[in-house]
Amino acid sequence: MSYHNPPTPPRKSATFDDASMAEIRRAAATGIYDIRGGGTKRQVPHFDDLLFLGASMSRYPLEGYRERCDTSVTLGTRFARKPIELKIPVTIAGMSFGALSGPAKEALGRGATIAGTSTTTGDGGMTDEERGHSELLVYQYLPSRYGMNPSDLRRADAIEIVVGQGAKPGGGGMLLGQKISDRVAEMRTLPKGIDQRSACRHPDWTGPDDLEIKILELREITDWEKPIYIKVGGSRPYYDTALAVKAGADVVVIDGMQGGTAASQDVFIEHVGLPTLACIRPAVKALQDLGMHRKVQLIVSGGIRNGADVAKALALGADAVSVGTAALVALGDNDPRWEAEYNALGTTAGAYDDWHEGKDPAGITTQDPALASRLDPVAAGRRLANYLKVITLEAQTIARACGHNHLHNLEPEDLVALTIEAAAMAEVPLAGTTWIPGRTGL
Ligand SMILES: Cc1cc2nc3c(=O)[nH]c(=O)nc-3n(C[C@H](O)[C@H](O)[C@H](O)COP(=O)(O)O)c2cc1C
Repeated sequence: MSYHNPPTPPRKSATFDDASMAEIRRAAATGIYDIRGGGTKRQVPHFDDLLFLGASMSRYPLEGYRERCDTSVTLGTRFARKPIELKIPVTIAGMSFGALSGPAKEALGRGATIAGTSTTTGDGGMTDEERGHSELLVYQYLPSRYGMNPSDLRRADAIEIVVGQGAKPGGGGMLLGQKISDRVAEMRTLPKGIDQRSACRHPDWTGPDDLEIKILELREITDWEKPIYIKVGGSRPYYDTALAVKAGADVVVIDGMQGGTAASQDVFIEHVGLPTLACIRPAVKALQDLGMHRKVQLIVSGGIRNGADVAKALALGADAVSVGTAALVALGDNDPRWEAEYNALGTTAGAYDDWHEGKDPAGITTQDPALASRLDPVAAGRRLANYLKVITLEAQTIARACGHNHLHNLEPEDLVALTIEAAAMAEVPLAGTTWIPGRTGL
């Protein structure tokens, strides 16, 4: 008697899934590694895995329309003669002219100024448009030193020494030839149209002792006026924060792996660094151990989207947050109104990340004058200001519901986690329990 096995359905490998196979084929066909913009696209523990408890019998909430909930923050109170006063604890992260168009940089300055916060230069120097339209401008001092000049240091309101970025801790920036226009080339004193791969470490110091000397130099150049920030990509947040404090920082900026980049290798974005959520508590612990929490301010970035994210970062101990990607979306990045053009580029609104190619239909991550002129910096700045206002109102709503009259009074005790991973990273109890994984005892 013959026996026939019933046909089994074809089975794809979970390891060699469609995306992995497509990437192998793409690599085999081109011999080039994949470069893209944005932050990690994989799911990692994030602020969505936390919930606020809200007031109940043991705490009472504040009235939304009658009781004040303050949002201001002062950055640079340790050494700077002129600390930065922000109306809201949300700043605009450093994004370079070169990566972004002139109108986009101007719009960031306009939006931040309306909202009462700061914006930041980037790899490539300070443009007159952004200085002119930014009431508070942080000047980045990067390993590449592109566009660096001492008079711009003095024109800035604060200085951010960039040691690393969350999208690529340990890696340098990239700006591909397509985006090196005459103006970008002139500002970076490099040839037009040639790919630029920025240095990954500073040329004149290698560790915290040398950095301390560098910081003193920067303070001397700027007459001890400007707050000095140190920005690191999230990888060893406890030690990096402690060393930044030792080197003399006024402010520490920690950028987690969800943090955007204008252009990096995909393998770098997806496989190097820590999720933002995993960075905050160790950084705060380092500040607390040194008696510096709230004296050296902590800014957190990487995947901040809404007021809940802001409130959660502050509750975990940050003094402020920074937004990059969300600010670009508020300006008009990845807007479905350009869908036909995204399709022509082989992608779709919401997934467009080939920012290095300079063909951005929204006119934001481009140096093509025709595309850049699509962005109206006044209207885009207003959209950014609206967005910043909304997320601040959202954070206030949550703080009031937890009974706090200042966003900075939010605390870890206001939070629980939905997953064991998030509970361990944020060091808050798993919802419905008193268990904080990784902590012994209760
Ligand atoms: C288009 C773009 C350009 C960037 N350029 C720089 C840069 O020049 N220097 C820097 O330190 N970080 C740069 N970043 C990183 C941001 O400063 C910030 O760390 C990151 O965007 C925060 O994460 P988020 O995008 O999820 O808000 C860039 C990010 C983007 C999206």
